[in-house]
Amino acid sequence: MPQDNISLAELKTDPLLELIQTKIHTSSGALKFSDFMQLALYAPSYGYYSKPTPKFGASGDFITAPELGNLFAKCLAKQCSEIFHYMPNSDLDILEIGAGSGQLACDLLVNLQLLKIEIKNYFILELSAGLRLQQQQKIKTKCPDLYSKVTWLEQLPLTKITGIIIANEVLDAMPVSKFQWYDNCLQEVYVTQSLDNSFEYVLKKPSESLQHYFDAKQLANCIGTLDLPYISEANLWGAPWIASLSRTLQHGAILLFDYGFSRNEYYHPQRSTGTLMCHYKHLSHSDPLINVGSQDITAHVDFTSIAEAASENKLTVAGYTNLAYFLINCGIADFCEHTLQHNQEIQILTSPAEMGELFKAMALTKNLHVSLLGFNQFDKLYTL
Ligand SMILES: C[S@@+](CC[C@H](N)C(=O)[O-])C[C@H]1O[C@@H](n2cnc3c(N)ncnc32)[C@H](O)[C@@H]1O
Repeated sequence: MPQDNISLAELKTDPLLELIQTKIHTSSGALKFSDFMQLALYAPSYGYYSKPTPKFGASGDFITAPELGNLFAKCLAKQCSEIFHYMPNSDLDILEIGAGSGQLACDLLVNLQLLKIEIKNYFILELSAGLRLQQQQKIKTKCPDLYSKVTWLEQLPLTKITGIIIANEVLDAMPVSKFQWYDNCLQEVYVTQSLDNSFEYVLKKPSESLQHYFDAKQLANCIGTLDLPYISEANLWGAPWIASLSRTLQHGAILLFDYGFSRNEYYHPQRSTGTLMCHYKHLSHSDPLINVGSQDITAHVDFTSIAEAASENKLTVAGYTNLAYFLINCGIADFCEHTLQHNQEIQILTSPAEMGELFKAMALTKNLHVSLLGFNQFDKLYTL
């Protein structure tokens, strides 16, 4: 397992570790895991996503679908053009949330132009100042004539948009609550400091919000009766986030792409150690308490909860399928030029052993009652 050998002296001078230690002390000696994850990823200046270090691609820690090449963006552009076709006579906007290196924005803008789709604004909601700068540089260099279409936001727009909201691997980067279910007892996982100054887990009474979520979603029924402690996570931020996206969208669609599955698969009795994954220099492991601030921390998405939140917030769940099926439905084969690059890209995007099966696409629509290209065949809505 990758581990930075952080000496005691370094530990004392690392501002993120100092911040987390202070929060632990001011929270009676233990921080909820979700608060720890929030600080590790998003603490201003020092959190993983707030720092200007490379994250995506070969020089970073992990690769996302848009970073592999342009096939994902070409398919997405085709899906967007179909949606826009159903919305004639509107000023159309795209809002991309958490735009990473800016690669998807570039490729999407270029491919929408090739498809002769005129959009009014391409909004990017980016919390990280470092990533915003990287996105600006990339778009200026790669598609300078389209730069003027792009507007950066630090929060959701105050006026409603008509068009499409896109979020690729955003839900899996949200802080999650971590819990243990054992012997009919729910406990919440907290983070504390051990005697050698490193971080360790401690179990405590669950917060009201976690207990409410666990009961409302009937997670005990999914997990069933086990002889061993069952560890998993719950994204309590997902539903309010979907509600906020729904308030932002006047007319159009929300396209979500992420690692995840239905609730029954997520809380399957055999998945007893949860779905937390960390990414550090292209190595994946499951210990978020090391390399703090230098590694990505993710948890898979319970898409059943996302679909429920959508239905409760005036959105229609219009489609849910594997990434491979979404791309095949959008005609990925037509875009493949059979170069080594494209062949490798298709292999990673569609193989069940890579992103093809575990990675999902979900479409939520508002005031748009049409069947969507990417979900025409192999729709897995029935699994939610
Ligand atoms: C794994 S990265 C994905 C980046 C990019 N979409 C890609 O596919 O390469 C996750 C991104 O989601 C952003 N993010 C997470 N929660 C967010 C939220 N509530 N609002 C806006 N961005 C968020 C993070 O800041 C980070 O940039």
